[in-house]
Amino acid sequence: MKYSKYSAIIIGSGIAGLYAALKIEQQTRLSDGILLITKSKLGESNSRYAQGGMVGVLKENKSDSTASHISDTIKAGAGLSELNTVKFISENSDKVIKDLLNFGVEFDRDNNNQFTFTLEAAHSVRRVLHSGGDATGRMIEEALAKKVYENQNIDIYEETVAVELLVNMANECKGVIVFNDITKEYEVIYSSAIILATGGIGQLFKYTTNPIGATGDGMALAFNAGAMMQDMEFVQFHPTALAIDGDENRFLISEAVRGEGAKLVDSDGIEFMYKYHEKKELAPRDIVTRANYTEMLNHSVDNVYLNAACIDKNKLAERFPNISKKCLENGIDISKDFIPVAPAAHYMMGGIKTDIEGETSISGLYAIGETASTGLHGGNRLASNSLLECVVCAFEVANYLKTLELKPPKQIDESIKNIIEKYSDEIYLEEIDVSGMKKKLQNIMWNGAGIFRNEENLKNSLKDVEQLRLNFHRSDKCISKSEYEFRNMLTVAEMVIISALKRKESRGAHYRTDYLQTDEVGHHSFLTRTSMADIKKSMNIECSNESVIYRINNN
Ligand code: FAD
Ligand code: SIN
Repeated sequence: MKYSKYSAIIIGSGIAGLYAALKIEQQTRLSDGILLITKSKLGESNSRYAQGGMVGVLKENKSDSTASHISDTIKAGAGLSELNTVKFISENSDKVIKDLLNFGVEFDRDNNNQFTFTLEAAHSVRRVLHSGGDATGRMIEEALAKKVYENQNIDIYEETVAVELLVNMANECKGVIVFNDITKEYEVIYSSAIILATGGIGQLFKYTTNPIGATGDGMALAFNAGAMMQDMEFVQFHPTALAIDGDENRFLISEAVRGEGAKLVDSDGIEFMYKYHEKKELAPRDIVTRANYTEMLNHSVDNVYLNAACIDKNKLAERFPNISKKCLENGIDISKDFIPVAPAAHYMMGGIKTDIEGETSISGLYAIGETASTGLHGGNRLASNSLLECVVCAFEVANYLKTLELKPPKQIDESIKNIIEKYSDEIYLEEIDVSGMKKKLQNIMWNGAGIFRNEENLKNSLKDVEQLRLNFHRSDKCISKSEYEFRNMLTVAEMVIISALKRKESRGAHYRTDYLQTDEVGHHSFLTRTSMADIKKSMNIECSNESVIYRINNN
């Protein structure tokens, strides 16, 4: 086992992780250096696929104001957004976006060199900045990744998976154990500032817009280490993913296409959104998703359609070059053909509970971006607020770390030694092909904990997940990245299902067909390893070990 130490470790190289690394390096003198760890290539992430854009409440946009953005975010959030967090993020938007420009990020501009803003659902004005037309995520990510590569003070580990956090009995995080998926070697890395920027969980569901790495690793690691989780039932499903047969990792058809005027229609070209909401195609995302899904169920079809032919042909090509290209590759000319679309898991509103500086309930452990739950998004995220949250929170965690003396720990207690031992053991394990089990899990979650939920289906899903866990035969140590990802997916699946069972109301993206009402007062849900064990016991599911192995009591 190799040992090393760093002043700060960032895990994840999406926009949150890349920007945090650059800001920490810029703001803080760190004697033991900065390490950025990522489980595939630098920049491979959900961030890379972001299309619509990033909210920019910019001073020069005279039709917009922070008051208006705050109000839209709170309305979309279905009574669960934290006002102070929303306010802070909105008010810091101008500052961080101008700062991004200093790192080589560009947003699309008009002929007068002024930023162009698009409209997305539930925004009352045009305030969404975009880049490369519909390639916003890739453009930002590539600019930041270039700066990280060039920066001599940031070490990078690629193809390296964080597998367990080193949290001691005093609830302090002292480092992380990582696994190199190429060399199959483990390394213990000590640090007193570990920043999780590990992204979302879309891969838990059969249909998703998320790439294969979105397996909720950071959430599982933090939860297993004892961190407080928040609102884990709130999974956002995007209404319009390209529905091509056999393609379950679905390409997104951005909400901005509807923002520019496209209409949702059935196979006969008849519009239906007027039945569901006065804002029709621009209603909050959860409402459009349920409308599409209801139409699909009522007519026993696999998709509805988006009609973008009403948008000027040249504008379509200029604003949505990648969407046009992808559709054309599939024989769809979006300037005249209907685009087949269906809902898909897209974004996780819940996650590791943090404040705006990324502080979690474990000292020395921080979380930013999609893996964190700051309370900004409430029960339903407003489009394009995620990238903004990533950069504001990355900025703030760097600012906060500036106030601390970051020294890697000198002494390691018994509890941490025990964690390290689990990975030092030279036990022979045969690699498990997890692809079949992963498919099963994705089906379980889509059918039982997806867009429409009820108690019976959620309970059955939990039992099915437990059975998969028994079949998986791994608790801590695994022998490949895909095994580690599957281990983490099982943990996150349980968190989502149990939180969904506990919330006996419908709110935002969490829709219970057996509890249609929305409670008068919104409340967050919280989950820890200990509280989950208690809940499972009360549900007749026995825990044979507090962290990962459970057995279903059939009585
Ligand atoms: P990610 O970008 O997902 O990065 C996570 C990183 O962590 C990756 O590098 C991953 O490899 C790494 N990682 C994970 N686990 C481990 C581990 N165990 N060890 C080491 N590394 C690990 N939001 C908007 O605001 N506007 C949009 O227009 C928009 N469009 C979207 C379109 C699509 C198709 C998708 C999927 C999402 C979109 N979103 C959008 C949401 C937004 O892109 C994400 O929420 C955001 O980019 C998350 O950034 P992040 O840095 O937190 O995580
Ligand atoms: C989209 O472009 O529709 C996605 C925007 C988002 O998820 O914020």
